[in-house]
Amino acid sequence: MKLIIINGPNLNLLGKREPEIYGSQTMEDFIIHLRKKFPNINLEYFQSNHEGRILDKLHEIGFSYDGIILNGGAYTHTSIAIADAISAISTPVIEVHISNVYARENFRHHSYFSAYCKGVIVGLGMKGYEWAVMDFIGK
Ligand code: DQA
Repeated sequence: MKLIIINGPNLNLLGKREPEIYGSQTMEDFIIHLRKKFPNINLEYFQSNHEGRILDKLHEIGFSYDGIILNGGAYTHTSIAIADAISAISTPVIEVHISNVYARENFRHHSYFSAYCKGVIVGLGMKGYEWAVMDFIGK
């Protein structure tokens, strides 16, 4: 099984960025934990601060992988282009947000992506990525 976690802008700063909101763990450490926990899964990780690079990655893997776990960061609330890409590809996408976006500013309450996603996991911290993996592997 081939899964990928795609993180959008500013999520390269996890561990340093507003730890009271996003926690103090780095994504690199969390990926090590996930790969240990799910040794039979081919789990890739991709992060970009650039909308076009995220689009290119979705196009590249979106017809061959078994699942995409996408935290689009702020692009969630702005990017019709990424929403169109999620709709265009055949690989199912689970949208993840570390923080509870509904308990934050109004502009975070709308996602352009959710309508095209298999499901959405919000506000459960880094564990949200883990729940998404478990859904894809049927656990
Ligand atoms: C986020 C929530 C977004 O509103 C924000 O722009 C992020 C992170 C989250 O994981 O909680 O960058 O997607």
